Amino acid sequence: MSKVYTIAVLVGSLRKESINRKVALALAALAPANLRLNIVEIGDLPLYNEDIDGATPPAAYSTFRQQVSSSDAVLFVTPEYNRSVPAPLKNAIDVGSRPYGKSAWSGKPGAIISVSPGAIGGFGANHHLRQSLVFLDVPCMQQPEAYLGGAGSVFDESGTVSEKTQPFLQAFIDAYGQWVAKQKA
Ligand SMILES: Cc1cc2nc3c(=O)[nH]c(=O)nc-3n(C[C@H](O)[C@H](O)[C@H](O)COP(=O)(O)O)c2cc1C
Repeated sequence: MSKVYTIAVLVGSLRKESINRKVALALAALAPANLRLNIVEIGDLPLYNEDIDGATPPAAYSTFRQQVSSSDAVLFVTPEYNRSVPAPLKNAIDVGSRPYGKSAWSGKPGAIISVSPGAIGGFGANHHLRQSLVFLDVPCMQQPEAYLGGAGSVFDESGTVSEKTQPFLQAFIDAYGQWVAKQKA
């Protein structure tokens, strides 16, 4: 049997009814056999502050770093806030990047899907996030790019993905499965 890779999924919205969280769960259900997607929660991480990140960091920091470190790869599913990365997700990225020299992100194959009810599908957040991932040495899947616009109508009342969007999500997660396998080979 081919290797199965564990994927830490970071969702950029903390909202209970988040469309992004629904997309993350849909991707987990559609994932190819070589990927296991697990959402890593970011909502309880204290705002990053070097003063509290000494010999005994907050337990939430340590748990989060361990969850990312022990995963094979990372997948970001995020809305756009004011044309950029939502603060909770940027905070999680900063927490994972420390202590200096021991970043949890280094070398993890990544991918981004941005999701918005708006027309441009969170393009700004998607690309601002890519800028951080360059510095963090996360090799990020380039194609297919994934900007899911008009996302307010992606799910019906029962939570099922629309027929129009399902193939888009399937193509994205299948490509990511191939990308992760290639990077880890
Ligand atoms: C503070 C804030 C800023 C936002 N800025 C943008 C934006 O720049 N571009 C955009 O497409 N949507 C923006 N939105 C709308 C979000 O895309 C929308 O609320 C979306 O549903 C959030 O994702 P979620 O459903 O996963 O929570 C913003 C929402 C908030 C709360």
